Amino acid sequence: MTADQPIGIFDSGLGGLTVAAAVRKLLPNEKIIYLGDTARVPYGNRSPETIRTFAGQDAAFLISKNVKAIVAACNTVSATALTHLQEQFPGLHISGVIAPGADAAAGARRIAVLGTRATINSGAYVQALRERYGNELEIITKQCPLFVPMVEEGILDGPIAREVIRHYLEKIPEPDTILLGCTHYPLLTGAINEHYNGKVRIVDSADAAAADLKKYLEQAGLPAPADSHGSLQLYVSDIASGFREQASRFLGTEVPEPGKVTLTD
Ligand code: DGL
Repeated sequence: MTADQPIGIFDSGLGGLTVAAAVRKLLPNEKIIYLGDTARVPYGNRSPETIRTFAGQDAAFLISKNVKAIVAACNTVSATALTHLQEQFPGLHISGVIAPGADAAAGARRIAVLGTRATINSGAYVQALRERYGNELEIITKQCPLFVPMVEEGILDGPIAREVIRHYLEKIPEPDTILLGCTHYPLLTGAINEHYNGKVRIVDSADAAAADLKKYLEQAGLPAPADSHGSLQLYVSDIASGFREQASRFLGTEVPEPGKVTLTD
C-alpha cells in the first residue's frame, strides 16, 4: 500500500455519502472512491447471505480501483458481513460503522438504537455497546424499515415524516440518547429531534468512522501527502431519475458526475 492510493467507501446506496462527507472534512487530502449499489438498495430487508454476496462484490470493485483501505459505510453490511469481508480480502484494512457508532454513544444511560431489520436482527449494536459500557446501559433497539425509502424520497420533515417517526418511536421508552444505526438516518436528525422536543441526544457513526479511518492511516503510515488534492469519484450501479438531487442531499454539496458499474463476482 502507498499513501497516494485512494480510499474506498461503499454503501448499499447513497446513505454512505454521509460518511464520505465526514471523511472529506476530516481528511481533505485524500482521494475517495465511493460506490453506491443503487441498483440493489435497500440491503436492510435481505438475508445475511445475500448481503454478504453483495458486500463482497462491492469491495471487489473498490479493490479493482487500487484502494489502500475500505470503509463499509453501511450499518447493514457492517453488522452482517464485516468479518466475512475481512476474511475474503486479507491484507486490506476494511472497517465498518458499528464500532464507531458505539463509540459515539459514550455517556448514554438509556439508548435507543434505530436501524434496518438486518442490522437490528444481527444484534451487532447490542454486542458492541455491551462490550464498551457493560450491563449498566439500558439498550432499546428498534427496526425502522420505512426510514430508508422515506429519506430516499426526500421526505425529511413535514406530516408524513412526523407520522412515520411517531409510529416507530412513540411506543419505546424515552431514551436519553438515540443512536442512528443506518447511514441514511442522519438526514432525519431534525425531525427526530422535533419528535423529542430537543430533549434527546442524537448520535451517528459518520464522524467517528472518519476519525477511526484517520487513526488507522496514521498508524499504517498511509495518510495522503499534505500537498495532494483530495477528490471524490462516485460510482453507482444504477442512475435513476432524481439521482443528482438525492445524492447531493446525502453529501451536503453538489455531486460529481457518477460512473455506472455492473457488480459481479
Ligand atoms: N445505509 C444502509 C445502512 O446503513 C441502509 C440502507 C439499506 O437498507 O440498504 O444500513
